[in-house]
Formats: sequence, C-alpha cells, structure tokens
Amino acid sequence: MVGLQWGDEGKGKIVDYLAGGFDAVARFNGGSNAGHTVVIGDSKHTFHLVPSGALKGKQLLIGAGVAVDPAVLAEELSLLPGEARERLLVDGRCSLVTPVDKEFDVKVEEARGESAIGTTRRGIGPSYAVRALRLSPRVSDLVAGFDFRALTRFYEELSLDTSGIGPWAAEASELLRGVAGDVAQRVTDVTGAGGSVLFEASQGTLLDLLHGSYPYVTATHTTSSYIPAALGISPRLAGEPLGVMKCYSTRVGAGPFPTEIGGPQAESLRGLGKEYGATTGRPRRVGWLDIVALRYAVRLNGVEEVAVTKLDVLSQVKDVKVCTAYKLQGSEITDFQRASGRLDEVEPVFESPFSLHGADFGAGLPPGGKQFVGYVEEQLGVTVKVVSHGEERSRTIEL
Ligand code: IMP
Ligand code: MG
Repeated sequence: MVGLQWGDEGKGKIVDYLAGGFDAVARFNGGSNAGHTVVIGDSKHTFHLVPSGALKGKQLLIGAGVAVDPAVLAEELSLLPGEARERLLVDGRCSLVTPVDKEFDVKVEEARGESAIGTTRRGIGPSYAVRALRLSPRVSDLVAGFDFRALTRFYEELSLDTSGIGPWAAEASELLRGVAGDVAQRVTDVTGAGGSVLFEASQGTLLDLLHGSYPYVTATHTTSSYIPAALGISPRLAGEPLGVMKCYSTRVGAGPFPTEIGGPQAESLRGLGKEYGATTGRPRRVGWLDIVALRYAVRLNGVEEVAVTKLDVLSQVKDVKVCTAYKLQGSEITDFQRASGRLDEVEPVFESPFSLHGADFGAGLPPGGKQFVGYVEEQLGVTVKVVSHGEERSRTIEL
C-alpha cells in the first residue's frame, strides 16, 4: 500500500481497515517522520514507526529500509498493550536515528536558509546520509556492541554535540535486543506457508527521493517498486500495489504545489479535513485534486486499484475543483514529468466535473460519491476498491 500524493493520504486508516485480511503488516520505508492515524470510536492512535496493523493483533514487522529511532519506538510501544512487543520484529539491517542526527537535521535546514525543505526534523535525512557514508550502526551492530569512535569523530568535525551518544546507545540496545531479527526471512516464511503480508509505505510518491519533486522530497523511496528492495525479499512476493489517494491535495513543508489554494477557502478546507501534521502539528498546505500528478503516481507505482479517502470532507465544500492539466507559457501539459523542474511556474487548469455538496453517506455511497468514483476511474485508469468517508474505522465502504 502506497501513497499517491505528498503523504497524508490517509494510509494509516486504510492499513488498519485492511489489516484484518493479513497475517502481518510490514513497514518498509521512512522513519518517525511518518504519522499514521487510526481512529476507533473515541480513541485516536498515531503511529510513527510501528505498523498501523498494531490494533488488529497482527505481526508487526519493521523492514530494513526503515530508519529506526529507538526513543520513538519505545514511546510508541509504551502506549500499546504489552503483548504488542511480542508481535514486533525489527530487521537487524535497519539504520538507526541517533539524537545527533536530529540536531544535524536542524543544522542542515538552517544552512539552507530560504530554501529550507521544511523537514520534520526527525533526523531522517542525516540517518540515511550517514548510512550511505557507511559510518552508522545498524540495529544488529548496536545490539552486538558498536564501536562509535569513527562516527563520533565525524559528527565532531561538523561541530555536533555527541555527548548523548553513550547513554542513548545503552538504552537503545536494551530495547532493540528483544525485538531485533530477520524480517526478510519472516516475510518469506509467512508467505511460503500460505500467509500474507500487507506492506505499508510511509510518505507519498511525490516525496520520493529519486522520482518526487526533488529537492523538496524525503530522504528515501516511497513507491511500490521499493518494497522488495527495502525488505530484502523477492520481487515476486511484493504482490499487487494498492494506491491511497485523498480526494483533494495537501503538502507539508516547502516545495512546488500546483493546485495549492490560499485565503479563507484554504482555511475552511484545512479545518474540515483537520489538516494538521500528525508528527509536527504544522498546518498542512491544501489544494484541489491534481489529476496530472496522480496519473504520474499511478504510472510510477503500477497501481490498478486505489482507495479514496476523506470523501466526507468534499460533501461540506461548495465549488470543488479538479486540476486536469497545467498551463506553461501558453501550452497545455498533461504529463507531470514534462512539467517537473518548472512545477512552481505552471498554472493549473481546473474543472468541476462532479458535485458532492450535501452528500450523505448514511446509506452507502451517495450519487455524488458515485460520480466522483467514476470520474477518478476514468481519468486515472484504475478501479476504486475502497472509499473512506470519515476518520472512524467504520466509515469505510468497500466497492
Ligand atoms: P523529512 O522526511 O523529515 O526529511 O522531510 C522532508 C519533506 O518530506 C518535508 O517536506 C516533510 O514535510 C515531508 N514529509 C516527511 N514525512 C512526511 C509524512 O509522513 N507526511 C507528509 N509529509 C512528510
Ligand atoms: Mg501523515
């Protein structure tokens, strides 16, 4: 399951909803920059590292592509029933996020000045960068007793404060010793025995390090093709991707956003959709659905089936628009790739192809919802399998 926009598509809810049909849920990318929200009745859970299947009693797997911040993991486990730890397996090959990486993240942002990316400041970029420099401990190295001298010297060259590393390492290895193992083997075993694993992406396609709106992207890959590479499994086990898309767009942090809206209309949409970062609390930038960007995301992920989220929000908005093309210096562009690099110059071409205002989801998908689904299916060449119309688990329609 992958996000087709800039993250915050509602993946957490969809994973929780679908997890019942699987034996395990595996996160494969990103780190605690993610914020996946699951609402059951009056209680709300936000997951940053633990897979969103946690509340369905499933095996919880954190694959090698994830950057693990042990402090966040400990905190998250403390909020779950004690047995959740018994279900958790963290791959020994995962990179770690040290407290120094978080300070490093802030310093890099400061150095960028006006071109700051607006990272979540969770140390994700530095953690993957130090991994690429081959200086960082993996989970298995930390548990075995890692020699931090080279890493500490490197951090000190950059005038970063390394005084916290010793105590951090002691606590982290204590926590990880009990949960570290071989997720690649586990996935292979579960599927080999006829079981199934739901692979859960964090962030969204347009934040992919290689194929997103670089440099305003995250520090890892976010697309379906990364699933086997990140987990260390055969591509044959990755299965069919499900794309999750919200019925309008949001973006947190800096970077081009062709369909962005401002003023009172944005305030209203942000309020109705509760568009505030689950990790940072930042107000999300909001805009209309962008078919040009979505077509690109569908192609990149090989998605044939999608889940649409937050349709109830559009039932409360008048004059909903959809972007079907970009205008750049008089010519019309419908290929996202052609506009990349100049995304901050394009003018969106809007249409209003459906009307959901006042739609009521009490008795299944209302006529406006059907119009929306038909429109998305035709424009993107996909089948809509799931419609979410509220944050609560039960507000979900399977088609
Ligand atoms: P980083 O991943 O913290 O380095 O942040 C890089 C960019 O990705 C920033 O624009 C963040 O706001 C964005 N980002 C990272 N994780 C998420 C997420 O889970 N949802 C939405 N945006 C994210
Ligand atoms: Mg989120």
